[in-house]
Amino acid sequence: MSPVSLTPAARRRLLEAATAALGKAYAPYSAIRVGAAVLTSEGRIFAGANLENASYGLSLCAERVAVAAAAAALGGENLRLQAVAVVSDHPGPFPPCGACRQVLAEFGPEALILYRGEAGLEEVRLADLLPRSFLLRPG
Ligand code: THU
Repeated sequence: MSPVSLTPAARRRLLEAATAALGKAYAPYSAIRVGAAVLTSEGRIFAGANLENASYGLSLCAERVAVAAAAAALGGENLRLQAVAVVSDHPGPFPPCGACRQVLAEFGPEALILYRGEAGLEEVRLADLLPRSFLLRPG
């Protein structure tokens, strides 16, 4: 189960991890550097940065790189997300894109998502960012 909200310490750790990851962005095409960090149900943090490609459509968002890092370490079957933070050096609002919302929903439909909104840091449930996400359930 996800917490109702993050402790201030967990929020700070998650944002710090995302900010540190931003420094590892590979973004020569957009020049927008993005860092993301995921907090697992067991309290571990994994981070990633956007990874662009000369064939632009192959570029990976920071959120999906962070999820892949967590899955590589823990095994996807063991991955449950409590919270995700996204930071960017882009000056405007930077919510996770639709594709990333869908990927995050696979591992944490109730996860808290932290990102810069219109009026500063937002902390919202993924289910509010992506209601009725596509999930395969038995029967
Ligand atoms: N990007 C992310 O890393 N996460 C998002 O949720 C949206 C976009 C990246 C992709 C690309 O490298 C750059 O931001 C500009 O779109």
